[in-house]
Amino acid sequence: MEVLQVNNVSKRYGEKEKLVNALKNISLRAEQGEFIAIVGTSGSGKTTLLNLIGGLDILSEGEIIIRKHNIAGLKRKELAVFRRRNIGFVFQNYSLMPVLNVYDNVALPVTLDKGKYVDHTYIEGLLKELGLWDKRMRFPYELSGGQQQRVALARALSNKPAIILADEPTGNLDSRTTVEVMGLLKKCCKKYNQTILMVTHNEILAGNCDRVLHIEDGVLLAGKEGA
Ligand SMILES: Nc1ncnc2c1ncn2[C@@H]1O[C@H](COP(=O)(O)OP(=O)(O)OP(=O)(O)O)[C@@H](O)[C@H]1O
Ligand SMILES: [Mg+2]
Repeated sequence: MEVLQVNNVSKRYGEKEKLVNALKNISLRAEQGEFIAIVGTSGSGKTTLLNLIGGLDILSEGEIIIRKHNIAGLKRKELAVFRRRNIGFVFQNYSLMPVLNVYDNVALPVTLDKGKYVDHTYIEGLLKELGLWDKRMRFPYELSGGQQQRVALARALSNKPAIILADEPTGNLDSRTTVEVMGLLKKCCKKYNQTILMVTHNEILAGNCDRVLHIEDGVLLAGKEGA
């Protein structure tokens, strides 16, 4: 089943002499359960692409369709709800809530969704799967970087999103912890049939994914994307 379609998307920032063509006519598709790596040099447009797919920024041209919804057609509030229900984010800097313990951080996307019942059994399963069960009462500052990133991954999974967008999720981790977090990403991808789009600078990590997209200067390199 196809969960994502990016059709002829362009993104411009600024105007006149400040104009930046961050993305130029990008098209791609992703199936449910695919683990896709996005690679490219600094400034090539990787984060811009994730931000557009995640509804954190507005595209200039084209359309993005997630689970059959054209996200450009959504109003601000609708987009916020859509994002919470369909997108899981994992950032380089973890972005956990410092005042919430591990359990509450992971459950947050569900608790924020008013009227939605929190499936505690599912959250418990996630915490166990990611080796965080005995840390559930701890706060982010009490955890290592790798542990914090595992919490971020559990949080991203908690809403059973259509897509997880991970922007250099191992960028702050040492090589041993990188391997561990990558292993968990891959395991979650398979176990939950979870689509993941991951930006990385690491060619070896990219080579471990189902498919690699190369972006250069805002363009998806032809012949390599396999979309
Ligand atoms: N908010 C913004 N306003 C203006 N220009 C922007 C903005 N965000 C990104 N850009 C520009 O768009 C281009 C793509 O940026 P982007 O952040 O997507 O690159 P990236 O591939 O993620 O790079 P990196 O690997 O360094 O994270 C760059 O030229 C950047 O300067
Ligand atoms: Mg970036």
